[in-house]
Amino acid sequence: MDGQRTYRIKQYPVELGALEIQYIEEFFGEFARKKTAAEIEKRLLERAHVIQMAEARLPDDSSQLVPVSYKVGHEIFANETEPKLRDLVERLEGSVDFGGRRILYSWIGGTRSDWRGQGHFRALTEQQEAWALEHGFKEIVVKTKNKFYGMRGTLTHLNFDVVKYERNPVDNRESKVYLSKRIAPEVLSSHQSERNLVQAV
Ligand SMILES: CC(C)(COP(=O)(O)OP(=O)(O)OC[C@H]1O[C@@H](n2cnc3c(N)ncnc32)[C@H](O)[C@@H]1OP(=O)(O)O)[C@@H](O)C(=O)NCCC(=O)NCCS
Repeated sequence: MDGQRTYRIKQYPVELGALEIQYIEEFFGEFARKKTAAEIEKRLLERAHVIQMAEARLPDDSSQLVPVSYKVGHEIFANETEPKLRDLVERLEGSVDFGGRRILYSWIGGTRSDWRGQGHFRALTEQQEAWALEHGFKEIVVKTKNKFYGMRGTLTHLNFDVVKYERNPVDNRESKVYLSKRIAPEVLSSHQSERNLVQAV
């Protein structure tokens, strides 16, 4: 490889972003239940959020840029009322300190299989961290499962720490793993990717 690659990251407003996510999730066989655009919009409209996608050229038509990796984060609060988020926050109690600190939940994300292992998810994660720092967030929280070995390995490479492990009594592969990363200015100096951020219109 000659020189460092520059990743192209597009940031979306909620309506357009929700449609793009619904579309990209069609390519993910591993998700049992894909999110609909309506569900994404409903959750994100009520809170600070960030929708970003990495774009790359199609191998057989380099004139076409397509979204190949995506990442969506939104703020969570100690006093959530929406049932799913209230449940999440209750489970995080004692593991994440909400006291006067903005917490970003890295809700969904992934890379299309043909583009994995090329650094797109690292670039997106670093861009999300830069956004979080700029908006005063102190910590990014993410949830996965024991059985998602690729995601667990990736989060380790990206320096996320396990803050909680919730054992599934029937099947340990289904156990939930909560990880987080503290966001401070020093985090930027650990970033490795070169990125070009564009706004979707
Ligand atoms: C996990 C996933 C997002 C990684 O995306 P990606 O674009 O291939 O990741 P990158 O190429 O940016 O890699 C980022 C880092 O993670 C590491 N990594 C990537 N895939 C890995 C794997 N399967 N196992 C261990 N480490 C891995 C890379 O080596 C890299 O580390 P480095 O930058 O220090 O070298 C992608 O494989 C995916 O979408 N998987 C399915 C999603 C999933 O399982 N979701 C479950 C719900 S949480």
